[in-house]
Amino acid sequence: MINSLLNRAKDFHDVQRNKVKKIDTLRGKTIINLFFEDSTRTRTSFEIAGKWMSADTINVTAKGSSASKGESLRDTIRTINAMAVDAIVMRHPASGAPHLAAQWTDSHILNAGDGMCEHPTQALLDAYTMTTRLGSLDGKHVAIVGDLTHSRVFRSNLHTLKALGAQITVVAPPTLLPSGVDSWSKSHGFAVSYDLDETLEERPDVIMMLRVQKERMSGGYFPTAREYTVGYGLTEARWRSVIDRKPDTLVLHPGPMNRGLEIAAGPADDIERSAVLDQVSAGVAIRMAALERLIVGEKGN
Ligand code: NCD
Repeated sequence: MINSLLNRAKDFHDVQRNKVKKIDTLRGKTIINLFFEDSTRTRTSFEIAGKWMSADTINVTAKGSSASKGESLRDTIRTINAMAVDAIVMRHPASGAPHLAAQWTDSHILNAGDGMCEHPTQALLDAYTMTTRLGSLDGKHVAIVGDLTHSRVFRSNLHTLKALGAQITVVAPPTLLPSGVDSWSKSHGFAVSYDLDETLEERPDVIMMLRVQKERMSGGYFPTAREYTVGYGLTEARWRSVIDRKPDTLVLHPGPMNRGLEIAAGPADDIERSAVLDQVSAGVAIRMAALERLIVGEKGN
């Protein structure tokens, strides 16, 4: 399933390079992008993906919808359902919300990020970006660094990268690692580290930096921003030693980046080694593949 979506995304990436970016795959279909949380990349790329495939895409955000007047999620979903749309692409701050929504509608639901749970298309576009740059991920070492407690990107990447055979090390201060991570790491076969420098000495092929998600933090997860950066930021100095050790290291970040906190300009903007904008570009192709699979089936069959 993962590989066939990645392969299909390759076809769609070619569409992105065409002068006229319109194909017929979803003509006559209606897609609602229902976003209860802020988003730049994910929402825009889903909208572009739908439009390039000739679907009618409509954006609904919490602020401009009746959700801001107190309407329940169930009523919002049932209201949209009554309009006979084909798919709802949904982002919600509550983990599990898309799963619930699927019970209240006949249309397809695509999870565009739910709370601290999953962000499947992000993990797919990350895998697409890594395989395009590195070939097979079998045996490749990926270090996932940052605020793992609050990260749905981390959780989805864990599943996808494991399925593709990558070796994973997760790195974070103890306060930003999900509880129970030690037994989880044993059952799922990944390494846990509290020491970024030690992990970087292992010369990982990919360093995936994740954002410090201040909006999901209720208390103090680290003493000061400066201390976080010193311990866990991909600083200019760390980046220089990474490149010295392994010049072909790849750096990923799903965005939005907190520049100067978890990542410095050097790695973020490294023309050869930063794949941050490749991730954005892959996002459209992956979302085209996901929408096609969901709404019309494999390769439009
Ligand atoms: C991620 C998200 O929303 O979960 N961003 C994204 O989809 N591009 C990661 C984040 O917000 O840090």
